[in-house]
Amino acid sequence: MKAVIFDLDGVITDTAEYHYLAWKSLADELGLPFDKEYNEKLKGVSRMESLELILALGNAQYTDEQKYQLADQKNELYKEMIKKVTPADLLPGIESLLKELKEAGILIALASASKNAPFILDRLEVTPYFDHVVDVTQIKNGKPDPEIFLTGAAKLGVLPSDCVGVEDAEAGIESIRSAGMYAVGVGTPAQMQKADLIVASTSELTLDLLKSSHANRA
Ligand code: G6P
Ligand code: MG
Repeated sequence: MKAVIFDLDGVITDTAEYHYLAWKSLADELGLPFDKEYNEKLKGVSRMESLELILALGNAQYTDEQKYQLADQKNELYKEMIKKVTPADLLPGIESLLKELKEAGILIALASASKNAPFILDRLEVTPYFDHVVDVTQIKNGKPDPEIFLTGAAKLGVLPSDCVGVEDAEAGIESIRSAGMYAVGVGTPAQMQKADLIVASTSELTLDLLKSSHANRA
């Protein structure tokens, strides 16, 4: 294992919940039956694709301009929520894992579909741990396509097979696996069916666990 490539929302910090709340507010306003179960489909998926999935819950047609306006409305609400993020919002064990990885000389990258990712890393005060943050505006195909994780590995100068990817979304696990990396899923076995290794909480993620699981991979 030469590198660990992290997703952000739901892995480093619980902004996945804020994404949900912001979409929920928009869906309520539009009278669409959006809930937590349906929200699983949105995890790891870009802003505009997420909007399309929500609008598919109803029959109304929107112009592109209206869609951009709705996506902006969600993003403004989301940005209000993340203004309050502090280092205390790092998920359990994440800071000690980042430290352990750094000390062991393992490279670290971020592969998040969120345009708000650099802002959130700064709010969490963990930007310096990252050797590379993939610029999502340069990515043509979002998760589950492997492009974002492959770009992370290429920018770090490591082979995909030497990387571990950490995700909380089905689309993210698929992206990691099709990149040829070892996939660690944070969540329930039902949500993380395709992961190589599943942990219920980020507190279980340690250098030892990642290294030994990657070394013993099938
Ligand atoms: C991540 C999240 C998604 C979010 C996407 C885009 O992948 O898991 O829930 O829709 O980023 O985020 P953005 O902040 O750019 O709207
Ligand atoms: Mg996520």
